[in-house]
Amino acid sequence: MPRLGVNIDHIATIRQARRTVEPDPVWAAALAELGGADGITIHLREDRRHIQDRDVRVLRDTVQVKLNLEMATADEIVQIALQTKPEQVTLVPEKREEVTTEGGLDVIGNRDRVGQVVRQLQDAGIDVSLFIDPEVAQIEASRDLGVSGIELHTGCYADATTEAAQADELQKLQVAGAAARNAGLLLHLGHGLTYRNVIPVARMEGVCELNIGHSIIARAVLVGLERAVREMKQLITI
Ligand code: PXP
Repeated sequence: MPRLGVNIDHIATIRQARRTVEPDPVWAAALAELGGADGITIHLREDRRHIQDRDVRVLRDTVQVKLNLEMATADEIVQIALQTKPEQVTLVPEKREEVTTEGGLDVIGNRDRVGQVVRQLQDAGIDVSLFIDPEVAQIEASRDLGVSGIELHTGCYADATTEAAQADELQKLQVAGAAARNAGLLLHLGHGLTYRNVIPVARMEGVCELNIGHSIIARAVLVGLERAVREMKQLITI
């Protein structure tokens, strides 16, 4: 059974929309744990559009399950990871103008820099996973760098608009998943997974971790909205 890593970045996105203190990702992490999350995932982006440095520090102290920090290989962020020591770092590519992480890390094209950061993190006792597209060559390059796992980018599967295209993308994930397992890598998957498309991915052989954010936070807003309105209404009608 795969473990569930809940990505709580968008709790911070809502907070940053007003630069205020609510909602606090620290509260969200505690509730996600109560709901059964096996891990809490956060992405400290260079532009700090959602998660802030303070969140990383406080979550490091308060999260009781695995803390997975997604990050680019930028020096400043690497230093923060080395200081806070999350259980796991997932290295991702990052472009300032992107809405979300758009593609996997090009491990082949950035072998030297990625390898250097992998070693720094591993020397600090941090497990490293690389977020890559489902391509065998990237998996082999990841294995050569000695990481413990890879996270396959499920964005193309999630974006597929026909059943045939979705089956095709699932097949690519399955082939890549088998290659990862054969290479001795832990198999993680994530990006764009929803309540509607997650089941075939969760059933893939040997999946160890799914990282899901947007869909869970989107549902949380809606399933909680009715109660939130009722509570405000009660306050103003007394
Ligand atoms: N995994 C990685 C590496 C990501 O960058 C993201 C998005 O931050 C996710 C998983 C979660 O994606 P989503 O929010 O679409 O569920």
